[in-house]
Amino acid sequence: MKIIEIHGQTGASTIAVGESLENLKKYLPKRKTVIITDKNVNRLYAGQFPSLPKIVIGTGEKIKTLQTIEYIFDKLLQLEIDRSSYILGIGGGIVCDITGFAASTYMRGVGFGFVSSTLLSQVDASVGGKNGVNFRGYKNMVGVFNQPDFVICDPAMLKTLPKKELANGFAEIVKHACLSSGDLFDFLENNYEAALTLDPAAIEKLVYDSVAIKSAVVNRDEKEKGERRKLNFGHTLGHALEKTRGLSHGEAVSAGMVFAAGLSVRKGLLEEAAAVRLKQLLEKFNLPTKIDPAKNAPGGILPGGEMDKILDALKKDKKREGAGIHFVLLKSPGEVVIEEIPISELAEVIHDMY
Ligand SMILES: NC(=O)c1ccc[n+]([C@@H]2O[C@H](COP(=O)([O-])OP(=O)(O)OC[C@H]3O[C@@H](n4cnc5c(N)ncnc54)[C@H](O)[C@@H]3O)[C@@H](O)[C@H]2O)c1
Ligand SMILES: [Zn+2]
Repeated sequence: MKIIEIHGQTGASTIAVGESLENLKKYLPKRKTVIITDKNVNRLYAGQFPSLPKIVIGTGEKIKTLQTIEYIFDKLLQLEIDRSSYILGIGGGIVCDITGFAASTYMRGVGFGFVSSTLLSQVDASVGGKNGVNFRGYKNMVGVFNQPDFVICDPAMLKTLPKKELANGFAEIVKHACLSSGDLFDFLENNYEAALTLDPAAIEKLVYDSVAIKSAVVNRDEKEKGERRKLNFGHTLGHALEKTRGLSHGEAVSAGMVFAAGLSVRKGLLEEAAAVRLKQLLEKFNLPTKIDPAKNAPGGILPGGEMDKILDALKKDKKREGAGIHFVLLKSPGEVVIEEIPISELAEVIHDMY
């Protein structure tokens, strides 16, 4: 087990990587505490929860709304939770984002901590202090920056996670490897089989390195004024593919990273061999490196209507400023630049990679 301490303007957080759910009591303050979890995690792990009152929410992006927050506030009132109480979120990114937002706003803020139960939430969602919900179809539109007191990352809980959920986490781990000059990329290349079979030592290393890389970026730029933007590597096209091609977040980010690496080579920023290495690594994790490998059109040409949909989704991306779209491009491991790319050039590169 390893601890990472995050000290930010929005609070301090202790991230316990490789910690067991069994040791949760060590982290909980001696205060009246309520658990927020979702119905899947509750079904699988309720037997291992401490006996505390519990609020169980549904699953999926569609429940990440203000209505769910209202439902939680009602339950908190019924349970007579006040500012001296404590809230514990046990679940994936959705439970953590919702718990952090509800805890930060109920009575102007109640203390909170997380048990992070998906690979994606361990390596990404529960690090960095962003909490919030979707609003009128816009993702994470309403929220706050606030750090949980602690995050427990238990590798044993990942054993029950569906493969597609694991893939979402692996895509973000590869992203963190691209943003770091450390040995994470090499480690992934050499240990992908151990990672895919959830070998505890390999998972602990991947989660620890990811948390260290993300938290270092976040500590330097907590409120996303500059450097934090590099965490969007692969996400600009990724978000557009998620919306238009029905890919999962991890699949879309994977294809988005291959695209951004291709664009980086085209701009003379990145060696072609490095882009090939990234593609091969993603293939080892069974992640897609093309926009839509399953529905390849004859001759590999993306149908015009589909291209327009992708470009439209890109144009709607909130990071658009001016005539082009801002992309995070790679120079060398750990070194990125953000460049504005004209829409016409994007269409060409999208065609090339389809
Ligand atoms: N706050 C941030 O900085 C940040 C960063 C990245 C992503 N996010 C958010 O995180 C969310 C996605 O998180 P996620 O991928 O963890 O999804 P999720 O919370 O929906 O969990 C995925 C699925 O796995 C189930 N599950 C959770 N733990 C399980 C376990 N141990 N075994 C079996 N099933 C389990 C859940 O019930 C759910 O059905 C998105 O809403 C995204 O916006 C936030
Ligand atoms: Zn992501």
